[in-house]
Amino acid sequence: MPDVTLLNIGRTITVAEGQTILSAALEAGVDYPHGCKAGRCGSCKSRLAEGQVDHLDHTRFALTAEDREAGLILACRAVPTTDANVAWLGQGRSPGRGQAADLVRT
Ligand code: FES
Repeated sequence: MPDVTLLNIGRTITVAEGQTILSAALEAGVDYPHGCKAGRCGSCKSRLAEGQVDHLDHTRFALTAEDREAGLILACRAVPTTDANVAWLGQGRSPGRGQAADLVRT
């Protein structure tokens, strides 16, 4: 089972065979930024600093081909096949720019 280090918090979690990084992180109690958990929103977009993942289906809105070429992944769709290091790009539950924008609109 691959070990995945979450660079944002310096913590390593073990990911079961066939499990996504997001699923393993949430099970471990990590406040990993996410939304749909289904490859549609892009909230879990992360940088794969090291290692390999199999990427499950997702929308192009959530992750573009350019994103993939730049080393970005969706944690909710990424099943690690080797040990890996990842860093999420979002803000977790603390208020981020997206949430602040939502507040302004309401
Ligand atoms: S949580 Fe929505 S794309 Fe991953």
